[in-house]
Amino acid sequence: MKWTAKWIRPAADTGDAAPVYGRYFTLPEREKVTEAKLFITALGVYEAELNGERVGDFILAPGWTSYYRRLQYQEYDVSGLLEEKNTLTVTVGKGWYRSPMPGFQSSPYQQGLNECPAGLLAQLVLTYADGHSESLATDADWNVSESRVRFSEIYDGEIYDASFTPSIDGETLCFEGPWDTLIPQQGEEIREHERIAGARAFTTPKGELVIDFGQEVTGYVETVLEGKSGDILDLSFAEVMDKEGNFYTENYRSAKAQYHYICRDGQQSYKPKLTFWGFRYIRVNRFPGGLEKAAPECFTAIAVHSDMKRTGRLICSNPKLNRLFDNIIWGQKGNFVDVPTDCPQRDERLGWTGDAQVFVRTACLNYDAEKFFTKWLADMAADQHEDGYVGHVIPDLLQAPAASAAWGDAATVCPWEVYRAYGNTAVLENQFECMHKWVDYITATTTTPNLWTGGTHYGDWLGLDAPSGSYKGSSDETFIASAFYAHSTDLVIKAGKSLGRDVSSYETLYDHILAAFRAAYPEYRTQTECVLAAHFRLAPDCQAAADQLARMVEECGVKLQTGFVGTPYLLHVLSDYGYTELAYSLLLREQYPSWLYPVTKGATTIWEHWDGIMEDGGFWSADMNSYNHYAYGSVADWVYGVAAGITPAVPGYEKVRIAPMPDRRLDWLKASLHTRHGLVRSQWKQQDGMWRYEITTPVDAEIVIGGKVHQATAGTYYFYSEIR
Ligand code: BGC
Repeated sequence: MKWTAKWIRPAADTGDAAPVYGRYFTLPEREKVTEAKLFITALGVYEAELNGERVGDFILAPGWTSYYRRLQYQEYDVSGLLEEKNTLTVTVGKGWYRSPMPGFQSSPYQQGLNECPAGLLAQLVLTYADGHSESLATDADWNVSESRVRFSEIYDGEIYDASFTPSIDGETLCFEGPWDTLIPQQGEEIREHERIAGARAFTTPKGELVIDFGQEVTGYVETVLEGKSGDILDLSFAEVMDKEGNFYTENYRSAKAQYHYICRDGQQSYKPKLTFWGFRYIRVNRFPGGLEKAAPECFTAIAVHSDMKRTGRLICSNPKLNRLFDNIIWGQKGNFVDVPTDCPQRDERLGWTGDAQVFVRTACLNYDAEKFFTKWLADMAADQHEDGYVGHVIPDLLQAPAASAAWGDAATVCPWEVYRAYGNTAVLENQFECMHKWVDYITATTTTPNLWTGGTHYGDWLGLDAPSGSYKGSSDETFIASAFYAHSTDLVIKAGKSLGRDVSSYETLYDHILAAFRAAYPEYRTQTECVLAAHFRLAPDCQAAADQLARMVEECGVKLQTGFVGTPYLLHVLSDYGYTELAYSLLLREQYPSWLYPVTKGATTIWEHWDGIMEDGGFWSADMNSYNHYAYGSVADWVYGVAAGITPAVPGYEKVRIAPMPDRRLDWLKASLHTRHGLVRSQWKQQDGMWRYEITTPVDAEIVIGGKVHQATAGTYYFYSEIR
């Protein structure tokens, strides 16, 4: 397709109101049109309608990319919507492009985008039966006006006036919008998924009317109501109720998250489509005809997320663990809205690299996330600085002065994990330069050769051994940074070898880092330091590091003390070095701190902090307290990979290794994984005083039961072992 369209914008600024662009056209020979395709993008988020019908089902199109370098356009087949007389309208909200970042307002990156107009680029290509085609493209003949969307923004929500009728007769101007950055749709489309009806209504001690959906979701609310023109529906959103049972919004920080709807006459329904919220509860502030009319069934929460195919499932005999597995899935859904984000509700919702790096393995087991990550990693490569710097968030609207260990390392970890899961070298090919430049950045910026010193880091973020008043755990920051320097170098070597590249200089570098690390850090002081030393195989004696870790966990009462950096590998280190039972003790623990503690407090997603709600019902903090932060959900990869024992023997599962490790505190566990080569299943249960295993492999497999190795071809196999 060759673009003949021009970028257009309103001649007169529409202020807070989202502009709606329109074009009327007639097709005297409608029946001769064999194909009609709409190519479209915008500086903001758009919703297009042809003859009153929504075009496609991509919510928040054109998605979120590193806009200065990459802007996706979409292609829709609209043949079925065409008539003889046609009206094409497109409403453009601020979206990620032009919403100010309330939490990070000073970012010149975001300010530059905010100053852009609500530009639209669209081209309808009609192909006729005789083979000729014609285009109807945006130009100054298009009209525009203020739309019913009176205000629309990612963080602050939406104001919609259904009583207002746009005339669409204002002038548009052509302007020099972005051309060099245009790319075809690369990621998954964001779509509507689950619909959850309001479960119950209740009145809080403060006398406020609250609707509970029973599940935290990312998306929006559809309201069905009867109203008169000018009546107002006004909602607020929350994830949790406070200690006294009142509606709690403080943890949204400066995100206004409003939902304000002005009615037309009659029966009507409304769902905003140019923004989203992260919530479980809504407070009904105003409702047409009075609050008594606001019954739970008037409201439906609609979850929106990237349209990935579910691939992995876990279920076992422990209902609390099953709730944790569900929470991990909801955490992924809620934070995979085109970009892997930290959280979906407060004034951040950013593509934090550290969080993505922590969760990527689990993400690629739960869902087919190859396309999702391929697109995000391309943004990372696009945003990477010449010297190899990788930002704290991608798209990198923060532009921090220095990169952080375990955050920037997403540059090596994420492509490697995507390759491990799907076996496609394309992701390594595309990212290899970004991967090795990241390591080169560390080499160039460190103040001590072969270690990473002198940087600014997030450390073991939210580690429980943090000194009072700090968000950073007690693990030595340069220890973590140097460990990740080694790990990233190792991944560059592995990736380079998979691609047939010469990586000898990185092999030499790795040897130097290892020697320097061992000399600089002969001792480990925290759980996370032990975890990294053993898991990245940096310790001269990894068994000793794991032994120390097990002692530390036991000595503090079988409690984890780890934060973002140590937690993902904690159980792996324990089970890799003979402490599987202790790993299960941490997994099954219900008191704080643990994965199941939030479940006992009614969590329906994964919390940012181990005690987001404390034992006495209070909150640990108001400003860093999200109830939908997927990072600690990374524990699922241990359940798939160790408890059920499913791992790829080669990247992409063309050959598998299945080495289940049951624990007598569970009666049974079932795991299944749709790989590129078919369905792998691993199940075990207690039967007649024995462990009974049922294993299905679609490919050659190495099956390890009770320490005994069996070589198998595709098929289903049954084994028994003693319960110890
Ligand atoms: C985010 C995190 C992120 C962190 C950086 C927070 O505000 O929500 O998840 O990784 O900042 O330390």
